[in-house]
Amino acid sequence: MKIEFYKHNIGKEEKDKVLECLDGIFLTTGSYVAEFENKLAQYLNIEHVVGLTSCTAALHLSLLALNIGEGDEVITTPLTFIATATAIMHTGARPVFVDVEPETGLINPDNIKKAITKYTKAIIPVHLYGQMCDMKALKSIAQNSNLKIIEDAAHCLEGERDNIRPGQLGDIACFSFYATKNITSGEGGAIATKNEEIASRIRLLRQHGMTKEAADRYSGNYQHWDMIECGWKYNMDNIQASILLPQLDKIDFYWQKRDELFNYYLKQIQRVDGLQYPIIKNNSKSAYHLFTVWVNKKYRDMVLKKLNTYGIGVAVNYRAIHLLRFFKEKFGYTRNYFPHAEEIGDSTITLPFYLKLQNEEVDHVVKVLKEII
Ligand SMILES: Cc1ncc(COP(=O)(O)O)c(C=O)c1O
Repeated sequence: MKIEFYKHNIGKEEKDKVLECLDGIFLTTGSYVAEFENKLAQYLNIEHVVGLTSCTAALHLSLLALNIGEGDEVITTPLTFIATATAIMHTGARPVFVDVEPETGLINPDNIKKAITKYTKAIIPVHLYGQMCDMKALKSIAQNSNLKIIEDAAHCLEGERDNIRPGQLGDIACFSFYATKNITSGEGGAIATKNEEIASRIRLLRQHGMTKEAADRYSGNYQHWDMIECGWKYNMDNIQASILLPQLDKIDFYWQKRDELFNYYLKQIQRVDGLQYPIIKNNSKSAYHLFTVWVNKKYRDMVLKKLNTYGIGVAVNYRAIHLLRFFKEKFGYTRNYFPHAEEIGDSTITLPFYLKLQNEEVDHVVKVLKEII
Protein backbone atom coordinates (compact mmCIF):
# COMPACT_ATOMS: atom_id res chain seq x y z
CA MET A 1 0.00 0.00 0.00
CA LYS A 2 1.47 3.37 -1.02
CA ILE A 3 0.55 6.26 1.25
CA GLU A 4 1.41 9.76 0.07
CA PHE A 5 2.79 12.24 2.58
CA TYR A 6 0.15 14.78 1.53
CA LYS A 7 -2.85 15.10 -0.76
CA HIS A 8 -4.61 18.42 -1.27
CA ASN A 9 -8.33 18.73 -1.05
CA ILE A 10 -9.04 20.86 -4.11
CA GLY A 11 -12.27 19.66 -5.72
CA LYS A 12 -15.05 20.78 -8.05
CA GLU A 13 -15.99 23.94 -6.16
CA GLU A 14 -12.42 25.24 -6.21
CA LYS A 15 -11.99 24.34 -9.90
CA ASP A 16 -15.27 26.05 -10.80
CA LYS A 17 -14.24 29.18 -8.92
CA VAL A 18 -10.86 29.29 -10.68
CA LEU A 19 -12.56 28.90 -14.07
CA GLU A 20 -14.95 31.71 -13.16
CA CYS A 21 -11.94 33.86 -12.32
CA LEU A 22 -10.13 32.91 -15.54
CA ASP A 23 -13.27 33.74 -17.55
CA GLY A 24 -13.01 37.29 -16.23
CA ILE A 25 -10.38 39.74 -17.42
CA PHE A 26 -8.71 40.59 -14.12
CA LEU A 27 -6.23 38.01 -12.89
CA THR A 28 -4.05 39.99 -10.47
CA THR A 29 -5.07 41.52 -7.12
CA GLY A 30 -8.74 42.47 -7.42
CA SER A 31 -12.24 41.56 -6.28
CA TYR A 32 -11.48 37.90 -5.45
CA VAL A 33 -8.62 38.96 -3.19
CA ALA A 34 -10.80 41.60 -1.52
CA GLU A 35 -13.53 39.00 -0.93
CA PHE A 36 -11.01 36.56 0.50
CA GLU A 37 -9.54 39.22 2.79
CA ASN A 38 -13.01 40.15 4.09
CA LYS A 39 -14.06 36.56 4.65
CA LEU A 40 -10.80 35.63 6.39
CA ALA A 41 -11.09 38.70 8.64
CA GLN A 42 -14.62 37.61 9.54
CA TYR A 43 -13.49 34.05 10.21
CA LEU A 44 -10.60 35.19 12.43
CA ASN A 45 -12.79 37.80 14.09
CA ILE A 46 -10.24 40.50 13.37
CA GLU A 47 -10.45 43.87 11.66
CA HIS A 48 -7.89 43.65 8.84
CA VAL A 49 -6.48 40.98 6.55
CA VAL A 50 -4.07 41.57 3.67
CA GLY A 51 -3.51 38.83 1.07
CA LEU A 52 0.10 38.12 0.13
CA THR A 53 2.15 35.63 -1.87
CA SER A 54 3.46 33.62 1.09
CA CYS A 55 3.87 33.50 4.84
CA THR A 56 7.53 34.35 4.29
CA ALA A 57 6.40 37.60 2.65
CA ALA A 58 3.91 38.13 5.48
CA LEU A 59 6.63 37.81 8.13
CA HIS A 60 8.99 40.05 6.16
CA LEU A 61 6.45 42.84 5.62
CA SER A 62 5.20 42.58 9.21
CA LEU A 63 8.70 43.25 10.49
CA LEU A 64 9.14 46.15 8.05
CA ALA A 65 5.76 47.61 8.99
CA LEU A 66 6.87 47.63 12.64
CA ASN A 67 10.08 49.42 11.60
CA ILE A 68 12.37 46.56 12.56
CA GLY A 69 15.71 46.47 10.77
CA GLU A 70 19.48 46.85 10.98
CA GLY A 71 20.84 46.59 14.55
CA ASP A 72 17.60 45.15 16.02
CA GLU A 73 17.12 41.73 17.57
CA VAL A 74 14.05 39.53 17.22
CA ILE A 75 13.54 36.58 19.55
CA THR A 76 12.19 33.38 18.04
CA THR A 77 12.35 29.60 18.21
CA PRO A 78 14.86 27.31 16.50
CA LEU A 79 12.14 24.67 16.14
CA THR A 80 10.54 26.13 13.03
CA PHE A 81 10.84 26.39 9.28
CA ILE A 82 13.80 28.50 8.19
CA ALA A 83 11.50 31.24 6.81
CA THR A 84 10.77 32.47 10.35
CA ALA A 85 14.44 33.36 10.74
CA THR A 86 15.27 34.36 7.16
CA ALA A 87 12.43 36.92 7.18
CA ILE A 88 14.12 38.56 10.18
CA MET A 89 17.46 38.63 8.37
CA HIS A 90 15.90 40.12 5.20
CA THR A 91 15.22 43.25 7.26
CA GLY A 92 18.83 43.44 8.51
CA ALA A 93 17.80 42.42 12.05
CA ARG A 94 19.24 39.44 13.90
CA PRO A 95 17.25 36.35 14.89
CA VAL A 96 17.93 35.37 18.51
CA PHE A 97 16.85 31.82 19.21
CA VAL A 98 15.62 30.57 22.59
CA ASP A 99 14.73 27.04 23.64
CA VAL A 100 11.28 25.46 23.54
CA GLU A 101 9.09 23.60 26.05
CA PRO A 102 10.00 19.91 25.94
CA GLU A 103 6.39 18.69 26.04
CA THR A 104 4.94 20.89 23.27
CA GLY A 105 7.85 22.13 21.16
CA LEU A 106 6.50 25.69 21.57
CA ILE A 107 8.71 28.64 22.50
CA ASN A 108 9.22 28.82 26.27
CA PRO A 109 8.19 32.25 27.63
CA ASP A 110 10.69 32.00 30.53
CA ASN A 111 13.57 31.71 28.08
CA ILE A 112 12.35 34.77 26.19
CA LYS A 113 12.66 36.92 29.31
CA LYS A 114 16.31 35.91 29.71
CA ALA A 115 17.16 36.71 26.09
CA ILE A 116 15.85 40.31 26.04
CA THR A 117 18.54 42.95 25.50
CA LYS A 118 18.43 46.67 24.75
CA TYR A 119 18.38 45.73 21.04
CA THR A 120 15.33 43.44 21.24
CA LYS A 121 12.36 44.83 19.30
CA ALA A 122 10.03 41.90 18.80
CA ILE A 123 9.14 38.27 19.46
CA ILE A 124 8.05 35.85 16.75
CA PRO A 125 6.32 32.90 18.42
CA VAL A 126 5.55 29.97 16.12
CA HIS A 127 2.24 28.17 16.70
CA LEU A 128 3.84 24.84 15.92
CA TYR A 129 1.92 21.88 14.43
CA GLY A 130 -1.35 23.79 14.93
CA GLN A 131 -1.12 24.58 18.66
CA MET A 132 -0.90 28.20 19.76
CA CYS A 133 1.87 29.39 22.03
CA ASP A 134 0.95 30.81 25.43
CA MET A 135 -0.06 34.22 24.07
CA LYS A 136 -1.15 35.56 27.46
CA ALA A 137 2.35 34.96 28.87
CA LEU A 138 3.97 36.38 25.73
CA LYS A 139 1.77 39.47 25.78
CA SER A 140 2.70 40.21 29.36
CA ILE A 141 6.44 39.90 28.55
CA ALA A 142 5.99 42.10 25.48
CA GLN A 143 4.14 44.77 27.44
CA ASN A 144 6.74 44.81 30.22
CA SER A 145 9.64 45.21 27.79
CA ASN A 146 7.91 47.26 25.10
CA LEU A 147 8.22 44.59 22.43
CA LYS A 148 6.07 43.81 19.40
CA ILE A 149 4.67 40.33 18.73
CA ILE A 150 4.43 38.89 15.23
CA GLU A 151 2.78 35.48 15.32
CA ASP A 152 3.99 32.88 12.86
CA ALA A 153 0.62 31.20 12.42
CA ALA A 154 1.56 29.27 9.27
CA HIS A 155 0.31 26.11 11.01
CA CYS A 156 -2.52 27.67 12.93
CA LEU A 157 -5.36 29.17 10.94
CA GLU A 158 -8.03 27.42 13.00
CA GLY A 159 -6.25 27.35 16.37
CA GLU A 160 -7.29 28.93 19.63
CA ARG A 161 -5.90 28.99 23.18
CA ASP A 162 -7.49 30.50 26.28
CA ASN A 163 -10.24 31.66 23.87
CA ILE A 164 -7.65 33.75 22.04
CA ARG A 165 -7.06 33.37 18.31
CA PRO A 166 -4.06 34.31 16.14
CA GLY A 167 -3.77 38.08 15.71
CA GLN A 168 -5.94 38.96 18.70
CA LEU A 169 -3.14 39.48 21.26
CA GLY A 170 -0.17 39.79 18.91
CA ASP A 171 0.40 42.89 16.79
CA ILE A 172 0.23 40.88 13.57
CA ALA A 173 -0.39 37.21 12.71
CA CYS A 174 1.06 35.65 9.54
CA PHE A 175 -0.56 32.76 7.66
CA SER A 176 0.55 30.40 4.90
CA PHE A 177 -1.44 28.82 2.10
CA TYR A 178 1.53 26.79 0.88
CA ALA A 179 0.89 23.45 -0.88
CA THR A 180 0.61 21.32 2.28
CA LYS A 181 -1.26 23.75 4.53
CA ASN A 182 -4.80 23.18 5.87
CA ILE A 183 -6.17 25.38 3.09
CA THR A 184 -3.96 26.00 0.10
CA SER A 185 -3.49 27.80 -3.19
CA GLY A 186 -0.13 26.13 -3.88
CA GLU A 187 1.60 29.27 -2.70
CA GLY A 188 -0.02 32.11 -0.77
CA GLY A 189 -0.08 33.97 2.52
CA ALA A 190 -1.78 36.70 4.52
CA ILE A 191 -1.45 38.92 7.54
CA ALA A 192 -4.16 39.67 10.08
CA THR A 193 -4.08 42.64 12.43
CA LYS A 194 -6.35 44.82 14.56
CA ASN A 195 -4.34 47.87 13.61
CA GLU A 196 -5.51 49.81 10.56
CA GLU A 197 -2.24 51.69 10.15
CA ILE A 198 -0.22 48.47 10.06
CA ALA A 199 -2.64 46.92 7.55
CA SER A 200 -2.39 49.98 5.27
CA ARG A 201 1.40 49.99 5.46
CA ILE A 202 1.54 46.30 4.52
CA ARG A 203 -0.93 46.92 1.67
CA LEU A 204 1.43 49.60 0.39
CA LEU A 205 4.57 47.50 0.85
CA ARG A 206 3.06 44.46 -0.87
CA GLN A 207 3.02 46.37 -4.15
CA HIS A 208 6.18 48.43 -4.56
CA GLY A 209 5.02 51.22 -2.27
CA MET A 210 2.62 52.42 -4.98
CA THR A 211 -0.32 54.55 -3.90
CA LYS A 212 -2.69 52.63 -6.20
CA GLU A 213 -2.96 48.93 -6.93
CA ALA A 214 -3.78 47.54 -10.38
CA ALA A 215 -7.51 47.31 -9.62
CA ASP A 216 -7.62 51.01 -8.61
CA ARG A 217 -5.61 52.01 -11.66
CA TYR A 218 -7.58 50.15 -14.31
CA SER A 219 -11.17 49.94 -13.09
CA GLY A 220 -12.68 53.00 -14.60
CA ASN A 221 -10.70 56.06 -15.51
CA TYR A 222 -6.94 56.10 -15.49
CA GLN A 223 -5.39 57.97 -12.58
CA HIS A 224 -1.74 58.74 -11.93
CA TRP A 225 -0.16 56.94 -8.99
CA ASP A 226 2.78 57.84 -6.84
CA MET A 227 5.45 55.76 -5.14
CA ILE A 228 5.93 56.76 -1.53
CA GLU A 229 8.08 53.96 -0.19
CA CYS A 230 10.45 51.33 -1.60
CA GLY A 231 8.26 48.26 -1.32
CA TRP A 232 8.18 44.68 -2.56
CA LYS A 233 6.08 42.57 -4.94
CA TYR A 234 4.18 40.33 -2.57
CA ASN A 235 0.52 40.79 -3.60
CA MET A 236 -1.87 37.82 -3.62
CA ASP A 237 -3.59 37.50 -7.01
CA ASN A 238 -7.20 36.73 -7.96
CA ILE A 239 -6.35 33.19 -9.10
CA GLN A 240 -4.89 32.30 -5.70
CA ALA A 241 -7.85 33.89 -3.92
CA SER A 242 -10.35 32.03 -6.14
CA ILE A 243 -8.84 28.68 -5.11
CA LEU A 244 -8.92 29.68 -1.44
CA LEU A 245 -12.44 31.10 -1.25
CA PRO A 246 -14.42 27.83 -1.41
CA GLN A 247 -11.98 26.21 1.05
CA LEU A 248 -12.48 29.05 3.49
CA ASP A 249 -16.25 28.55 3.26
CA LYS A 250 -15.75 24.92 4.36
CA ILE A 251 -13.12 25.58 7.01
CA ASP A 252 -15.22 24.65 10.08
CA PHE A 253 -16.42 21.45 8.43
CA TYR A 254 -12.84 20.59 7.46
CA TRP A 255 -11.63 21.26 11.00
CA GLN A 256 -14.23 18.82 12.41
CA LYS A 257 -12.88 16.17 10.05
CA ARG A 258 -9.27 16.94 11.03
CA ASP A 259 -10.27 16.66 14.69
CA GLU A 260 -11.83 13.22 14.13
CA LEU A 261 -8.93 11.95 12.05
CA PHE A 262 -6.28 13.32 14.40
CA ASN A 263 -7.87 11.70 17.44
CA TYR A 264 -8.33 8.42 15.62
CA TYR A 265 -4.62 8.51 14.68
CA LEU A 266 -3.64 9.34 18.25
CA LYS A 267 -5.66 6.45 19.64
CA GLN A 268 -4.03 4.00 17.24
CA ILE A 269 -0.52 5.35 17.72
CA GLN A 270 -0.78 5.19 21.50
CA ARG A 271 -0.65 1.40 21.10
CA VAL A 272 2.90 1.62 19.79
CA ASP A 273 5.53 1.38 22.53
CA GLY A 274 8.58 3.60 22.34
CA LEU A 275 6.83 6.65 20.86
CA GLN A 276 6.15 10.07 22.30
CA TYR A 277 4.19 12.97 20.85
CA PRO A 278 3.69 16.66 21.49
CA ILE A 279 1.05 17.36 24.12
CA ILE A 280 -1.97 19.46 23.24
CA LYS A 281 -2.88 21.55 26.26
CA ASN A 282 -6.40 21.42 27.74
CA ASN A 283 -7.06 25.10 27.16
CA SER A 284 -6.05 24.78 23.51
CA LYS A 285 -7.90 24.08 20.26
CA SER A 286 -5.31 22.82 17.80
CA ALA A 287 -5.58 23.56 14.10
CA TYR A 288 -4.28 19.98 13.68
CA HIS A 289 -1.86 20.92 10.94
CA LEU A 290 0.76 18.17 11.28
CA PHE A 291 0.80 14.74 12.90
CA THR A 292 4.25 14.30 14.40
CA VAL A 293 5.67 11.60 16.64
CA TRP A 294 8.94 11.53 18.53
CA VAL A 295 11.00 8.33 18.32
CA ASN A 296 14.31 7.53 19.99
CA LYS A 297 16.83 9.78 18.23
CA LYS A 298 19.30 6.91 17.93
CA TYR A 299 17.10 5.26 15.34
CA ARG A 300 15.00 8.14 13.98
CA ASP A 301 16.74 8.29 10.60
CA MET A 302 16.54 4.53 10.21
CA VAL A 303 12.78 4.62 10.89
CA LEU A 304 12.34 7.42 8.34
CA LYS A 305 14.12 5.39 5.66
CA LYS A 306 12.21 2.21 6.47
CA LEU A 307 8.85 4.00 6.32
CA ASN A 308 9.84 5.23 2.86
CA THR A 309 10.78 1.73 1.72
CA TYR A 310 7.29 0.59 2.82
CA GLY A 311 5.79 3.28 0.55
CA ILE A 312 4.86 5.69 3.34
CA GLY A 313 5.62 9.38 2.77
CA VAL A 314 7.27 11.11 5.71
CA ALA A 315 8.93 14.43 6.56
CA VAL A 316 10.67 16.07 9.52
CA ASN A 317 9.10 19.23 10.93
CA TYR A 318 11.62 20.33 11.98
CA ARG A 319 15.28 19.73 12.72
CA ALA A 320 16.39 22.59 15.00
CA ILE A 321 17.46 25.26 12.54
CA HIS A 322 20.33 26.76 14.55
CA LEU A 323 22.25 23.59 13.64
CA LEU A 324 21.89 24.16 9.89
CA ARG A 325 25.19 25.15 8.29
CA PHE A 326 24.20 28.74 7.54
CA PHE A 327 23.17 29.58 11.11
CA LYS A 328 26.16 27.79 12.61
CA GLU A 329 28.56 29.70 10.37
CA LYS A 330 26.83 33.07 10.65
CA PHE A 331 26.07 33.14 14.37
CA GLY A 332 28.40 30.50 15.83
CA TYR A 333 25.61 28.29 17.15
CA THR A 334 26.66 24.74 18.08
CA ARG A 335 25.04 21.69 19.68
CA ASN A 336 23.74 21.99 23.24
CA TYR A 337 22.65 25.62 22.82
CA PHE A 338 18.97 24.63 22.84
CA PRO A 339 18.76 21.07 24.21
CA HIS A 340 14.96 20.66 24.04
CA ALA A 341 14.69 21.92 20.46
CA GLU A 342 17.62 19.69 19.51
CA GLU A 343 16.11 16.64 21.21
CA ILE A 344 12.77 17.16 19.45
CA GLY A 345 14.48 17.99 16.14
CA ASP A 346 16.51 14.77 16.33
CA SER A 347 13.57 12.54 17.18
CA THR A 348 10.70 13.95 15.09
CA ILE A 349 8.91 12.12 12.32
CA THR A 350 5.95 13.74 10.57
CA LEU A 351 3.48 11.09 9.37
CA PRO A 352 0.94 11.44 6.54
CA PHE A 353 -2.03 13.50 7.73
CA TYR A 354 -4.70 15.06 5.50
CA LEU A 355 -8.43 14.93 4.95
CA LYS A 356 -8.25 12.34 2.18
CA LEU A 357 -6.36 9.92 4.46
CA GLN A 358 -8.63 6.94 5.25
CA ASN A 359 -8.81 5.20 8.63
CA GLU A 360 -7.47 2.01 7.00
CA GLU A 361 -4.45 3.97 5.79
CA VAL A 362 -3.87 5.28 9.31
CA ASP A 363 -4.09 1.69 10.59
CA HIS A 364 -1.53 0.66 7.98
CA VAL A 365 0.92 3.46 8.89
CA VAL A 366 0.63 2.58 12.58
CA LYS A 367 1.09 -1.16 11.90
CA VAL A 368 4.21 -0.56 9.79
CA LEU A 369 5.63 1.87 12.35
CA LYS A 370 5.07 -0.67 15.12
CA GLU A 371 6.81 -3.38 13.12
CA ILE A 372 9.79 -1.15 12.36
CA ILE A 373 10.21 -0.06 15.96
C1 LIG B 1 6.24 27.62 10.66
C2 LIG B 1 6.34 28.15 9.26
N1 LIG B 1 6.62 29.46 9.08
C3 LIG B 1 6.72 30.00 7.85
C4 LIG B 1 6.54 29.23 6.72
C5 LIG B 1 6.68 29.86 5.38
O1 LIG B 1 5.48 29.78 4.67
P1 LIG B 1 5.44 30.07 3.10
O2 LIG B 1 5.90 28.82 2.41
O3 LIG B 1 3.99 30.37 2.84
O4 LIG B 1 6.32 31.21 2.85
C6 LIG B 1 6.25 27.87 6.85
C7 LIG B 1 6.08 27.06 5.65
O5 LIG B 1 5.99 25.89 5.62
C8 LIG B 1 6.15 27.32 8.15
O6 LIG B 1 5.88 26.03 8.32
